[in-house]
Amino acid sequence: MKTENNVALKRFNSFGLSYTAQHLVKIYSENDIYDVIEDNIEPVYILGGGSNILLTKDISGYVLKNEIKGISVIEEDEYCALVEVGAGESWHQFVLWTLSHQLGGLENLSLIPGTVGAAPIQNIGAYGVEQKSTFHSLHCIDLKTGERKTYFKQACQFGYRDSIFKNELKGQVFITKVQYLLQKKNHKLSYEYGDIHAVLSEKKIEHPGITDISDAVITIRQKKLPDPKNIGNAGSFFKNPVIDVSLFEKIKEHHPNLPFYHTDTEGKIKIPAGWLIEQAGFKGMERNGIGVHKNQALVLVHYEGGSGEALLELAHEIQQKVFSIFGIQIEPEVNIW
Ligand code: EPU
Repeated sequence: MKTENNVALKRFNSFGLSYTAQHLVKIYSENDIYDVIEDNIEPVYILGGGSNILLTKDISGYVLKNEIKGISVIEEDEYCALVEVGAGESWHQFVLWTLSHQLGGLENLSLIPGTVGAAPIQNIGAYGVEQKSTFHSLHCIDLKTGERKTYFKQACQFGYRDSIFKNELKGQVFITKVQYLLQKKNHKLSYEYGDIHAVLSEKKIEHPGITDISDAVITIRQKKLPDPKNIGNAGSFFKNPVIDVSLFEKIKEHHPNLPFYHTDTEGKIKIPAGWLIEQAGFKGMERNGIGVHKNQALVLVHYEGGSGEALLELAHEIQQKVFSIFGIQIEPEVNIW
């Protein structure tokens, strides 16, 4: 096991915040994980692409960086392919691989930052599709016992940006490989989402394929969301809150243009947190190197020289103001370290 000490984490988190890790261990294989378990080291923090964390302090203990790579088809028939991918692969590179092999199912999830291992943890989603729809199973190693485990879809308890790996199993397992069941033909496309429709008609594409959808999603994301290479950010900072219909009706009396999404649960409505934050007056604000993005209020940003503590403080301020105006408690989607 190769351990690096006092490692600057700036390039390992998409906010680009300057904190350090006491120890960093890169994990390239299952054997590397067994070494960690044998050495009984703790506490451990598991890092993927660092695109969904807010660092607020130097990390004392061990940061394990997932570098397990590899993509292969492990089973297939005429219609479907079961693809196994290393949890340390870049998610977007994996999506591009599926497109180049004419495999459908992940095209709407193009350009989401982060690694493959983080995808089931967050149950990432965008433009009407969540990863759970093509997820098949994952392999992981229990960090206490060293036991190798497989979780199939049902056992993962996927919900909106949620899974068993964010709850009961938080920090307990190290995900090594993930399997997705993808379509080889008769691709089931999902492009009802307003923005995708608009981009396709602008390009005069009437019968889109998976690559057209991916291209459209990339166009939309590049327009709306800041590139972490230029401005530090972790995508949506908050989840879109799910509220009771009664509260929704009450708010609507004063805000007739309140946007909303229907949910699968009766009596519950999802509200775009970006709208709430914009109404609360935070959109585009900037102070001490941090702020709220000017095109998408759901995205908190780090320009230069700001701190994670200041970002956390701003997040609390936003939560309080939104609560005092709308009576809605919004919760972070990013993990706070
Ligand atoms: N809106 C505003 N002001 C803003 C931002 C949004 O009024 O500053 C309103 C608009 O009415 C807009 C609606 O919010 O129509 C929804 O905005 P958008 O379509 O941009 O989506 P979102 O709800 O803000 C969610 C996901 C994104 C995902 C997009 C597209 C969450 C927390 N976020 O954002 O996921 O890409 O939908 O499907 O669910 C991420 O998780 O990091 C992420 C980027």
